[in-house]
Amino acid sequence: MSPATFTDAIQHQLQLTQYGLYPPELYDPIRYIMSLSGKRMRPLLTLMAAYLFTDDWRKAIQPALGVEVFHNFSLMHDDIMDQAPLRRGQPTVHEKWNQNTAILSGDVMLVNAYDLLLAVDADKLKPVMSRFSRTAAEVCEGQQLDMNFETRWDVTEDEYIQMIRLKTSVLLGYSLELGGLIAGADAETTRHLYEAGVNIGIGFQLKDDLLDVYGDPAKFGKQVGGDILANKKTFLLIEALQQAKGTVRDELTNWLHKPTTDKAQKVQAVTAIYEQLGIRQITESRISEYFSRGFANFDQITADPARKSFLIQFVRQLAERES
Ligand code: IPE
Ligand code: IPE
Ligand code: MG
Ligand code: MG
Ligand code: MG
Repeated sequence: MSPATFTDAIQHQLQLTQYGLYPPELYDPIRYIMSLSGKRMRPLLTLMAAYLFTDDWRKAIQPALGVEVFHNFSLMHDDIMDQAPLRRGQPTVHEKWNQNTAILSGDVMLVNAYDLLLAVDADKLKPVMSRFSRTAAEVCEGQQLDMNFETRWDVTEDEYIQMIRLKTSVLLGYSLELGGLIAGADAETTRHLYEAGVNIGIGFQLKDDLLDVYGDPAKFGKQVGGDILANKKTFLLIEALQQAKGTVRDELTNWLHKPTTDKAQKVQAVTAIYEQLGIRQITESRISEYFSRGFANFDQITADPARKSFLIQFVRQLAERES
């Protein structure tokens, strides 16, 4: 068994899966976004979690792809909401087609995701679907909070963590939990898997916030500085608003409140303030903290050590990611 075995399995399932044919205006954008090279980490987490407890991990492939389709649906709508021009190094669906297309194609993807999840054994159907529905609603709750925070200036770190737990982390939690559920792991084990995913997901979103400022555009595949331009209450901004005093604070609030005339100039100025305040280091240590919590959750799980270290190795790479 090598990591490529799981990647190949997902790749193969991606090629097999049909989203629909007519009218093409509805389905072409789905094929487009699904064909862009994402990390596929959610389905990979599902397969690796299933492999902890069964040799028959292949039965998790189709449901795992359901999670990936759901994730891509959330990206399609997120890019409208964030007015993002780029996704995985290519134009976003609403830019390439239009907003209405991105809304409706996204809607069908949610339906497709449910369909793919139905491919679990009948005795697993209820927990798999009800946990998924809960997770999907929470992702929407997190997305709403993310938007609410754009126009608020008193967002606390706790509120931020709660927001990213919903918009991002619960889906990573579910991805791992799903693997456990399909493989027949007990309730305590699936709970540890879920908690691990939630902690890793918080670290993952913190890293996403960091890369949005410091990422290499060629590797990151998204517009660098997009969060600064949207006044997103990222961990970096909340921390900066907390740390900045005197003239630095005035300068920061000035950039945040005045209308943007030169985008690059705003991104550069706010980034310089982050540098001055050491925000990058603070964020990095917070990322490590949450990944460590996730590893501690893995410690609670009894499984074959070789299979476990396989999963741990994969998660370590996520903490180091540049895209
Ligand atoms: C992007 O997710 C959205 C976030 C939750 C930060 P990924 O970073 O997993 O994106 P892809 O699927 O690899 O493109
Ligand atoms: C998105 O957070 C989380 C979801 C898609 C639900 P971001 O808005 O930070 O994700 P990116 O940076 O656009 O991928
Ligand atoms: Mg967003
Ligand atoms: Mg976004
Ligand atoms: Mg982001």
